[in-house]
Amino acid sequence: MERLSLAFTALIILLIPLSAQAEDSGFYEPVPKMVYPKDNPWSQAKEDLGKMLYFDPRLSGSNWISCATCHNPGLGWGDGLPRAIGHGQKELGRHSPTVINSGFFEVQMWDGRKPNLEEQALGPIQAKGEMNQNLDDLVKELKAIPGYVTAFEKVFGKDSISSKNIGKAIATFERSVVSKNAPYDKYMKGDKTAMTDSQVNGMNLFFGKARCAICHNGPAFTDSNFHNIGVKQEGPLKKDLGRYNQTKDEADKGAFKTPGLRHISRSGPYMHDGSEATLKEVVEFYNRGGDRNENKSAFITPLKLSRKEVDDLVHFLEALEGEPIIVSIPQLPAGR
Ligand code: HEC
Ligand code: HEC
Repeated sequence: MERLSLAFTALIILLIPLSAQAEDSGFYEPVPKMVYPKDNPWSQAKEDLGKMLYFDPRLSGSNWISCATCHNPGLGWGDGLPRAIGHGQKELGRHSPTVINSGFFEVQMWDGRKPNLEEQALGPIQAKGEMNQNLDDLVKELKAIPGYVTAFEKVFGKDSISSKNIGKAIATFERSVVSKNAPYDKYMKGDKTAMTDSQVNGMNLFFGKARCAICHNGPAFTDSNFHNIGVKQEGPLKKDLGRYNQTKDEADKGAFKTPGLRHISRSGPYMHDGSEATLKEVVEFYNRGGDRNENKSAFITPLKLSRKEVDDLVHFLEALEGEPIIVSIPQLPAGR
């Protein structure tokens, strides 16, 4: 269901026209400190182990595909492709979302089918179309690599290589991938030179006339909810019912998770099917009120933005790009 916070929506619609500027309306939320689950607390050794596993192609059946193949730090932690290419070089039905800020998302995957990063990590390893690896075989393989035996022992104790701990370590590494200190944050914290006039105008449109913040809100710019916004549906899947596959609720047909928008200028193409190549195409998509009307959200209607307003909105989305997220590629333990 499009479980929208009505109070929030009413607030936006009422407040924005009253305040001259979005910056006065109290919607700004800085990126908070990462919260680690009680049953998987942070340690540097765990984050380091998770990083090795993330970059290690030996986690796949072919020993050729790693998490970083599809979530590549150089490509905004995505793959730069409309839809992912998996095991056997086959194109999958959906676009690889960025891993940036995934530690803040309340649910994982375009259809929300995974509750957390720990469980999510084990999905692609086993998926036939992605890494095509049997988990028991993987545990055996890792036990035969002395460097991993030592690394797991340091983090989880003796004889601790298990699929559960693989998931915990990878999730801990992913929680370190956070977008911080974007021009937008600097501006909102008082540096009025951090955004251009066009970006400031784009911000006011985002929170006002263009109604983006109805769904893209909170510190990571997502309501962690599901909406059908009328995306074209390109690629090998003729139909993708999205969230409906999980809930069997008619209202969820074609609904997908609202993606976060921080650092988004780095991880195109966009949408669950990768059908929009650039941020300008995305904003033009919203400006015409989406492409398909079947079960579309009532919040997606033509926006009547001028050419300049379209550009301003794009420039604001670019101002959400934080400092470069630098990661050094780890040296992986020898052996196979
Ligand atoms: C072959 C490409 C591919 C590989 C390899 C891969 N992923 Fe993904 N990843 C995807 C695609 C495609 C999705 C979205 C699928 C969906 O929603 O149905 C996804 C979704 C995710 C998400 C959810 C993000 C969100 O915003 O909901 C996370 C986190 C993630 N992957 C992490 C990983 C990790 C960790 C690994 C390695 C264990 C991995 N992925 C391996 C393609 C890949
Ligand atoms: C009704 C809720 C809703 C509104 C309003 C909305 N969005 Fe979205 N947005 C979504 C959802 C859901 C998706 C993913 C849809 C899909 O892939 O099928 C999305 C996708 C995007 C993406 C692509 C992100 C990615 O990682 O692929 C961008 C960029 C974006 N929205 C920006 C905006 C802007 C700018 C506005 C205002 C003009 C806006 N959104 C209004 C819900 C919304």
